Amino acid sequence: MALARRYGTPLYVVDEMAVRNACRAHRREFESRYPRVRILYASKALMTKAIAMIVAEEGLSLDVCSGGELYTALSAGCPPDRIYFHGNSKTLSEIDFALSAGICRFVVDNMDELRLIDLLANAKGLVADVILRLTPGIEAHTHEYIKTGQIDSKFGIAIPNGDALRAVKYAKELRNVKLTGLHCHVGSQIFETEPFLHAIEVMMDFAREACDATGFIMEELDIGGGLGVRYTGGDDPLSVADLAEAIAPALLKAAEERCLPLPTLLMEPGRAIVGEAGTTLYTVNAVKHIEGVRTYVTVDGGMADNPRVALYQAEYDAVLANKADRPPTCEVSIAGNCCESGDMLAWDIALPDVEVGDILAIFCTGAYNYSMASNYNRHLRPAMALVKDGWSDLIVERETYEDHVRKDVVPDRLKSSHRSAAVSAESAMLVYPRASGANASE
Ligand SMILES: Cc1ncc(COP(=O)(O)O)c(C=O)c1O
Repeated sequence: MALARRYGTPLYVVDEMAVRNACRAHRREFESRYPRVRILYASKALMTKAIAMIVAEEGLSLDVCSGGELYTALSAGCPPDRIYFHGNSKTLSEIDFALSAGICRFVVDNMDELRLIDLLANAKGLVADVILRLTPGIEAHTHEYIKTGQIDSKFGIAIPNGDALRAVKYAKELRNVKLTGLHCHVGSQIFETEPFLHAIEVMMDFAREACDATGFIMEELDIGGGLGVRYTGGDDPLSVADLAEAIAPALLKAAEERCLPLPTLLMEPGRAIVGEAGTTLYTVNAVKHIEGVRTYVTVDGGMADNPRVALYQAEYDAVLANKADRPPTCEVSIAGNCCESGDMLAWDIALPDVEVGDILAIFCTGAYNYSMASNYNRHLRPAMALVKDGWSDLIVERETYEDHVRKDVVPDRLKSSHRSAAVSAESAMLVYPRASGANASE
């Protein structure tokens, strides 16, 4: 309540210690079971300067997937040699920016990108370290739209059809790239170890095949992110320890069985670092009871600050922060404030009697909420507060209406109202010539 009063709503709230503890758990559980590990935070989940600083301070590296994420990481002081540049459609200027910044690795999605990196690195007199993103042909049991391991995917280079081997051969021919490793990501919100273990087998088989065919030695194996989190009480995610306990021995064994040197193990958790650390606060603006149908509780945010429900049918738990000690008395659905009937934040959740002015807290919104937020309906993107030890600090300012119009440009020809009226009459004649003609002859 104090946070809502101090910063207003909607408000993203991030628990700093939850982020730090998740970073520490990943390092501790993997580093204690495997000799060489790098945990990369998948910054697409939530990227602000303060978050980048916290994960870097905890010793994590960063996975960025756009020039904007790279710029944020560098502005936050993240060491370039801990930055891995992902993305399936890197532009020439993004590659140039990353090369100039001296980032650690490019995670290459396709052959055209490989060629472009080689060309630009050559122009700068550099050799760029690259990892190839491969699609191992595995489907994790997760939502259709976030499955990325299968061959029919816009991401990566397929192993089963021979494209991946061709890419390794090509990379080895290029003078200004050095192929250091292989990457895969089999999906997100994964609750079992099997997809990861399967991915390790496929990737290690491929590493053996590529070594036999080209002499390529895989120094690093990046098995992506995807560890699930608890969005609702019905979710039962694996712990980081469970995941490490499965992955580390599997990789040690897989390397030994294939007579391959042990690669450095890279993991890219996103939501498992920040998901559960986030809560969003909203103010209730209206309660609409449709007798015999449903009660809609309308809040001052929605799909513009959290598009996951509309995109993935994501489910969330929520409470009324100002009535947290009261038992639930009704079933309601939480509607957003955008002009879209699909703009819902939760369906059929149990809450105490809801009234206008109540503060609704939706849990587990740390990942893919702020980072996927939009200005649909020209709503303002919310502020974000970081809380620790009873203190709070603003880490993202709330947008203002002035922010909305700052980048708008009005062409000179629209500036004079006389002239703009003439232009619209003229265009109306072009679009509706007959109607205008009829008027003219009357
Ligand atoms: C390549 C890659 N790595 C890591 C992640 C992070 O996934 P998650 O947030 O589910 O851990 C993603 C998510 O889309 C991804 O595409």
